[in-house]
Amino acid sequence: MPDMPTTDAALETHLADTKDARLESYKAFLRIPSISTLPEHADDCRTAAHWLVDALTAAGLEHAEAVETGGHPIVYADWLHAPDAPTVLIYGHYDVQPVDPLDLWTSPPFEPAVVGDRILARGAADDKGQVHAHVMAAGAVMATRGSFPINVKYIFEGEEESSTEHLDHWLETARDKLAADVAIISDTGFFEGNRPAITLSLRGLMYAQIDVVGTAVDLHSGVYGGAVQNPANALAVIIAGLKGPDGRIRVPGFYDDVVPLSEADRAALAALPFDEDAYQARLGLPALVGEAGFTTLERRATRPTLDVNGIWGGFEGEGSKTIIPAHAHAKVSCRLVAAQDPDRIFEAFRAYVEAIAPPGVTTTVQHLGSGFPSLTPMDHPATQAAARALEATFGQAPVYIREGGSIPVSASFGSILGLPVVLMGFTPPDENAHAPNEWMDLNNYETSIRAIARVFDELVDLPR
Ligand code: BES
Ligand code: MN
Ligand code: MN
Repeated sequence: MPDMPTTDAALETHLADTKDARLESYKAFLRIPSISTLPEHADDCRTAAHWLVDALTAAGLEHAEAVETGGHPIVYADWLHAPDAPTVLIYGHYDVQPVDPLDLWTSPPFEPAVVGDRILARGAADDKGQVHAHVMAAGAVMATRGSFPINVKYIFEGEEESSTEHLDHWLETARDKLAADVAIISDTGFFEGNRPAITLSLRGLMYAQIDVVGTAVDLHSGVYGGAVQNPANALAVIIAGLKGPDGRIRVPGFYDDVVPLSEADRAALAALPFDEDAYQARLGLPALVGEAGFTTLERRATRPTLDVNGIWGGFEGEGSKTIIPAHAHAKVSCRLVAAQDPDRIFEAFRAYVEAIAPPGVTTTVQHLGSGFPSLTPMDHPATQAAARALEATFGQAPVYIREGGSIPVSASFGSILGLPVVLMGFTPPDENAHAPNEWMDLNNYETSIRAIARVFDELVDLPR
């Protein structure tokens, strides 16, 4: 659409007139504590889903429903009255991460606070802010034009932060209803310095728990120490064996399916405007550390990882208690890259942990979750349509980046629905996602609504 005006006057007038109401609506959505992983918040997740159904209906979308899946509902809505135009599936998630540690928040996580250009609340960025922008963009398009230039189908999930358990099954059963030409996922963000970005790859995930069990109850460490294996020591031996000093993961076969980066991919990453010193300073770390032979940008998004997420066992109180703990545990996750298969990685991980487990205790490995990595092509016409929309509205061409986080549905849209995916998200890079004081830049939020409206126009001519 080369002759489209950069700003749409009717849209701008509408958005100016509704700005205050929009902020109030955003805050109302953020007040719902839709923490998907905590069972005590299941009703809140359902409330958030129904809030969205009402908001989508008010925006002028049709067939809005909260689909029951056995877990948290999936929200669906559509508008399908552009028979000659492409169909776009839009994805976001309304669930959020837990809020602990609460004492580090400067304002309560579910009482949104506006401070300057920022709105602070759990979910302000990841991902309720982006979901809300999509609903507001739909409402603005319908209010100003009475129709969309393309067909749209919305999927807002409530289990993204707790491993997307029920979504794939629903995608399979609803395949016909979800037929589309492209999926747009808004659950990523901008690059360092808040530069508009389109994400080209996401990592997958394998999540496991190691349980090391000795006796039925703790033992007196003086009476038994020296005669038995200590489960906590044994766990430390296992964890120390998982990675070498060069940062390489020692699980046999772990790297077998990794598709190496091309020289062009490496050059593109190296050309990004990345200030490594500023990145390190922002993190407050004495050094950046990772796999030998790779740059920081390569390590954090294009190489697989293995990390302990939590480790516990034995006496954790103040003071000293002389015991040999009965058991010890660790949660371990691997971020995966194309074309690693999370289930194969789990089997290799389990076999290796069992092989290196010291004698005298029982070591078992449980599988807690999987998600596939995904790669999206930069030269796809839909990606280029998104790039034009970002440049027209944010005034800067996007950089193409790779992200280390995971959005398992991105791979499922390809494998189950056969759709190309565009990862078009709007959060600032230092938004404190999953951490205290999560925030969204209100300028990004406002402009993202224009970018979303614009991408619909840019997609009209998408080859089908
Ligand atoms: N929005 C994130 C994924 C993300 C993070 C994309 C950083 C781009 C950059 C998403 O909500 C998330 O946190 N995903 C989880 C998935 C897991 C629970 C399966 C993650 O990456 O830990
Ligand atoms: Mn997210
Ligand atoms: Mn998240």
